[in-house]
Amino acid sequence: MIIAIDGPAGAGKSTIAKIIAQKLGFLYIDTGAMYRALTLKSLNENVDIADAARMAELARKSTIDLINDPEGTLKVTLDGKDVSREIRDPRISKYVSDVAKIREVREVMLQAQRNLGSRDNSILDGRDIGTVVFPNAQKKFFLDANFIERVNRRHKELNEAGSEIAWNSVEADLSNRDTIDSTRECAPLKKAEDAIYVDTTDLNIQQVVEKILSYING
Ligand code: DC
Repeated sequence: MIIAIDGPAGAGKSTIAKIIAQKLGFLYIDTGAMYRALTLKSLNENVDIADAARMAELARKSTIDLINDPEGTLKVTLDGKDVSREIRDPRISKYVSDVAKIREVREVMLQAQRNLGSRDNSILDGRDIGTVVFPNAQKKFFLDANFIERVNRRHKELNEAGSEIAWNSVEADLSNRDTIDSTRECAPLKKAEDAIYVDTTDLNIQQVVEKILSYING
């Protein structure tokens, strides 16, 4: 079975997807982490993000793995190296939407994501899972929350991880990514017609998990 969870940054997708994957014994596939890992590589190797052909070549020759460990954490490796923490850095967030809007890069990622999701029962989160990557997914959700709440959540999460980033910078980053992700030509952020819309603004994690599980089991 494939469960697709799409939505903008800060809506709670990865937190919820991770919990549900553990409860159901599914693989958790964080597709945003794959774009983040490629962004990290392009910055490390000084590849011009505006050069679509070189970025696609970089994507093809990179090995990005998502390893689910039994405690429910996800390890992201790039060419064998653990980059799980590094890819959450605001420096990566700043550029990742520009990498993810490149059609040639998305073609490489699409294949990789379909391969990963075909191994076993999987829950994938991203922007285009229900619309493009797995349009035939058995269950599709679109998680959303109002903008200020999403900024608050991301700001708290970054601070808890040791970053001292200002609220205004997080706000600017989310606003910029919302715009790029939802207006790009290729596979923009969009609710699939058959996805269930869940507004998480006034819900806690437990409530969102229960709501989603009730739809999955229903
Ligand atoms: O979920 P996230 O914030 O880690 O995703 C990082 C970026 O990757 C996000 O700004 C848009 C892009 N992305 C995408 O275009 N398609 C996906 N399936 C997942 C993420």
